[in-house]
Amino acid sequence: MVKGENILLGISGGIAAYKAAELCRLFIRENAAVQVVMTANACKFIAPLTLQTLSNNPVYTSIFSEAGAFNIKHINLTNWATVLVVTPATANIIAKMAYGLADDLLSTTFLARGDIPTFLAPAMNLAMYNDSVLQQNLSLLKDRGVIIVEPDTGELACGVVGKGRMAEPSAILELVRFSLKQQKDLKGLKVMVTAGPTQEPLDPVRYFSNYSSGKMGYALARAAKARGGEVILVSGPTSLTPPAGANFKEVKTAREMYRVVTSLSAEMDIIIKAAAVADYRPLRTEIHKIKKSAFMEIKLEKNPDILKTLGEKKRKGQTLVGFAAETQDLLDNAAKKLYEKNLDLIVVNDVSQPGAGFAVDTNAVKLLLPGGFVEDIPLAPKDEVAHKILDKITEIRRERR
Ligand code: PMT
Repeated sequence: MVKGENILLGISGGIAAYKAAELCRLFIRENAAVQVVMTANACKFIAPLTLQTLSNNPVYTSIFSEAGAFNIKHINLTNWATVLVVTPATANIIAKMAYGLADDLLSTTFLARGDIPTFLAPAMNLAMYNDSVLQQNLSLLKDRGVIIVEPDTGELACGVVGKGRMAEPSAILELVRFSLKQQKDLKGLKVMVTAGPTQEPLDPVRYFSNYSSGKMGYALARAAKARGGEVILVSGPTSLTPPAGANFKEVKTAREMYRVVTSLSAEMDIIIKAAAVADYRPLRTEIHKIKKSAFMEIKLEKNPDILKTLGEKKRKGQTLVGFAAETQDLLDNAAKKLYEKNLDLIVVNDVSQPGAGFAVDTNAVKLLLPGGFVEDIPLAPKDEVAHKILDKITEIRRERR
């Protein structure tokens, strides 16, 4: 899948820069064209001549053109490139990219890259990698669709053993190849994802809700966007940043979510309901704060079942995917929802399992299809789980065709 791609290889200043030479060789061997941009510090770790020889192209190290040769390098390079891969990505270049600083050719090129698929392979000391600012910067970049190639765990250049060693060139090539293949499979499709909790107000200062952080739904929206889908993200209140380029609709209550989702559903090719919608809301919302008393009785009434309504309205060619958050009899309960709500797939969450379900960065799920077919997705980062769910959805659609 990298054959015929124009790969812009960015190298920043870390000891792992030598691995970029091997990656360049692998890209060329796969019949991709490669041009290389190096920071000044990268040139201290590896000679531009090595990359020039391997890529068979001049290597760019400065934003300023040689005398007499006027061209705007970062624009020319990004117009040419179909993919940008930065290996190694140091904490410094990651921070610049996260905040839009553009003070050298690599950071400027990154800012001018438009919507080409972009991969960063961080490499640094364990403490730097675990630093909360670095992690926040990586999250910002992920939210904007940049694919982060997780570093390996092993002996680092500083002698410490831990996470921070740049992924091996063959693993980076594999991820680039896999992502480029995926990137095309939702092109031309409208995908609606719901995420987060709903809040059902009791009075001006209290509400009923649940522990959903929105992480699973946002990961799905991000993955669908990265694969070329036209994405609408309908989200309850969360502290997350919506993926760049997604059409974002913020709602609070189940009834608001119902209105937004049902008004848009007819146009959608794929609907994925990862939101944890409150099944009940207070019968009355008080205008003033309720005063303390020894006992309080609150009457609840049922919220509309959004997914059930979508199942009733499902049009030909539309793929409807629900989630089930369960603590017991997982498959039996999920199967009931699958049939009652007329779904094409249900993603089953055992929310009592450590590391899975609500408010964590990882998830472990089972995919249940009509007919009883079950597939396990073991514990993995939610971004990875999201891609596996989308793989299954594209497979279902392909088979149906
Ligand atoms: O947000 P995170 O912190 O990342 O956590 C992720 C998650 C655990 C919330 C997510 O993975 C998940 O399981 N979401 C569904 C939670 C849920 O509400 O499950 P349920 O079994 O109660 O509902 C079944 C399905 O019906 C869900 O797709 C839900 O969106 C939908 N539903 C439920 C009630 C309702 N009134 N309307 C609905 O559409």
